[in-house]
Amino acid sequence: MASDKTIVLITGANSGIGYETVVALSSASANFHVLLGSRSMEKGQKALESLQLAHGDSLKGSISVLQIDVTDQTSIQAAKEQIDTQFGKLDVLINNAGVIVYQQVDRLAALRQSFETNVIGQVMVTETLEPLLRKAIKPYVIYVSSGQGSVTKRLDANFEHRAIRGDPYRMSKAALNMLAACHRYNYADWGCRVLAFNPGWCVTNLTGEAGREMRRKGGARDPKEPAVALVDIIQGKRDVDIEKNGMVDVDGGVLPW
Ligand SMILES: NC(=O)c1ccc[n+]([C@@H]2O[C@H](COP(=O)([O-])OP(=O)(O)OC[C@H]3O[C@@H](n4cnc5c(N)ncnc54)[C@H](OP(=O)(O)O)[C@@H]3O)[C@@H](O)[C@H]2O)c1
Repeated sequence: MASDKTIVLITGANSGIGYETVVALSSASANFHVLLGSRSMEKGQKALESLQLAHGDSLKGSISVLQIDVTDQTSIQAAKEQIDTQFGKLDVLINNAGVIVYQQVDRLAALRQSFETNVIGQVMVTETLEPLLRKAIKPYVIYVSSGQGSVTKRLDANFEHRAIRGDPYRMSKAALNMLAACHRYNYADWGCRVLAFNPGWCVTNLTGEAGREMRRKGGARDPKEPAVALVDIIQGKRDVDIEKNGMVDVDGGVLPW
């Protein structure tokens, strides 16, 4: 028998935007059970402990840690079986895990690593979990993309992040947007809402400790902002934007693909 709660899985939730989304969802309603996805069980448990320490009193929903490495099919399959056994369905999948390859590696390695996590991993997670999403009444699949993946913005002289190179990351997020469009089309007949989401430029661990400082100094936003927008999406407040062509934007409306 499927759970009465709204079951939400967030991949890469031990840090940054994913972590803040666990907090925001669990603070929003007792009806949510959030699976804090982490590729390292140890990091996931630590994240849950610090979350409970910082927000214990305001948490209404329940949370548990789920080991899931999006580049490891054995791990994805085991996660699926665990969700099936415990909850019998999955209402919301937030494909949030992602990487920017900022270490010095050659071009080929940077391309492979970016696509393996940001694209191939996302395909495999969603398609493995699809049978559980089909058991939900109003399922959502959310891909955390990026303005850096907008083909339109890449050649826009007024785009504030135009000078940033990071071609492998940009290409992987553009491919992720196409994945979101394909899954929106493929899953339409069973009512699954599929979207790519632009969280904006945030202070997170995406580019390491030095990157955090650079982001802070550069005026990047608090990851709590996209977390609030993600709660709105899951609560159906942005369904109009999901129908549009483009990435659902943290600040409202959509950003062009
Ligand atoms: N921060 C921004 O400005 C920004 C802007 C646009 C889009 N985004 C997107 O937002 C998403 C979240 O990133 P963030 O900014 O919150 O950075 P973050 O703090 O570095 O979080 C990224 C998360 O992804 C996890 N991850 C990486 N590879 C994984 C794998 N193979 N399997 C499972 N988890 C994996 C990381 O786990 P570990 O801790 O184990 O490495 C971490 O939990 C990413 O998709 C990113 O591209 C971020």
